Amino acid sequence: MTTAQSLSWPTTPVAYGPVVLREFSAADLPMVREMSGDPYVPLIGTLPPNASTQEAQAYIDRQRGRLAEGRGFSFAIAEAGTGRGVGQIGLWLADLDQGRATAGYSVAPSARGRGMGAAALTALTSFGWAIPQLHRIELYIEPWNAGSVKTAERAGFEREGLLRSHQEIGGRRRDMLLYATVRGDSDRARLEQADPVR
Ligand SMILES: CC(C)(COP(=O)(O)OP(=O)(O)OC[C@H]1O[C@@H](n2cnc3c(N)ncnc32)[C@H](O)[C@@H]1OP(=O)(O)O)[C@@H](O)C(=O)NCCC(=O)NCCS
Repeated sequence: MTTAQSLSWPTTPVAYGPVVLREFSAADLPMVREMSGDPYVPLIGTLPPNASTQEAQAYIDRQRGRLAEGRGFSFAIAEAGTGRGVGQIGLWLADLDQGRATAGYSVAPSARGRGMGAAALTALTSFGWAIPQLHRIELYIEPWNAGSVKTAERAGFEREGLLRSHQEIGGRRRDMLLYATVRGDSDRARLEQADPVR
C-alpha cells in the first residue's frame, strides 16, 4: 500500500495558468513574513503571527519536512514567470489509505485578487489525481470566507454541507463548509460543457 511517506516530490513542474507549485526555499522568507501579518493565516496553520526571520525560517523548514513525516505535500505557490513565492498550498495525505486528502491554502495579502489561489488549487487537484489511490479531496471553509469559497468553486470543488461546531480556530468553535472534488469530476464537467443535455 502506498503511504504519503513513500511518495516522492514531483519531478515535472506542477503548474496551472499563472502559478507553479514548488518546494519552499529561503527565498520565500519575505513572503512568509508577510503572510504572518495577516489576521487569519496564523490561526489556520503553524505560522506564528508577525513571525521573526527565525520563526519564518522554522516554518519553511517544517514545510520542507512534511512529506518525509508522512503528512503530505506543502508547496510554495509561485508566479510562473518569475518563480517569486506568493503563498502556500498543502495536499494533506494522512487518510490516503482511505482514498482521501484534504487541502488548504493561503495567498500573501499583496498577491491576492489575481487568480493565484484558484490557479494553485486547480494545479494541486490535477497533481492529486496522479496519485492512484486518491479519489477525493476535501476543503473545510468557514462560511464567512467568501474568497476561499469562490476559490474552491473556481477550482471545481462542490459544496457538500455545513459541519456545525466542527473545529476550534483561534480559541472558538467554528462551523465549517465542506467542499470536495472527486476523481472524474473535471472529466464530467468537460462532457457536460460539450453537451449540456447529457
Ligand atoms: C482565500 C485566498 C487564498 C484567495 O486567494 P486569491 O489569490 O486572492 O484568490 P483568487 O484571486 O484566485 O480568486 C478566486 C475567486 O475568489 C474571488 N475572491 C477572492 N477574494 C475574495 C474576497 N475577499 N471576497 C469575495 N470574493 C473573493 C475572486 O474574485 C475569484 O472569483 P472569480 O474567479 O469568480 O473572479 C486568500 O484570500 C487568502 O489567502 N485568505 C486568507 C487565508 C484563507 O482564508 N485561506 C483559506 C482557508 S479555507
